[in-house]
Amino acid sequence: MMRIQVINGANLNMLGIREPDIYGNLTLDQINEKIARKGGELDLNLDFFQSNHEGDIIDKIHDCYGKKDGIVINPGAFTHYSIAIRDAIAAVGIPTVEVHLSDINNREDFRKISVIKSVCLKQLWGKGVNSYIEALEFLVNESKK
Ligand code: DQA
Repeated sequence: MMRIQVINGANLNMLGIREPDIYGNLTLDQINEKIARKGGELDLNLDFFQSNHEGDIIDKIHDCYGKKDGIVINPGAFTHYSIAIRDAIAAVGIPTVEVHLSDINNREDFRKISVIKSVCLKQLWGKGVNSYIEALEFLVNESKK
């Protein structure tokens, strides 16, 4: 069974309340339920983690070493400046997909820059919860290569 860690970063615990016109009305728990349902269909072992603290996200990525076969990460605003999260992903060498709910390429210019992208196999954005679902499908397909 493929083991995948889903990580959500800063402010994603506020989904449902936070700027619903941009991020939708679903809470993080509701989003995670949908991801878990897909995980069941794909026969995946999924774990979920959210933190607003950069160091805790780094610790969680390190923790994945030797224990997880893939990571799906929405770092929130850390995407745009956390070299430390980027380095953690590079350090563990686990196939990782970067996801975003909103279309980061059609918002403020600072959101177009991801310092994480180059250490991820793929970047998915602008599809709401489907960004995460497609990330799971992608990791499963990659593992078969
Ligand atoms: C986000 C996009 C980021 O720019 C923003 O800081 C977030 C959420 C998204 O899922 O669309 O917190 O990662």
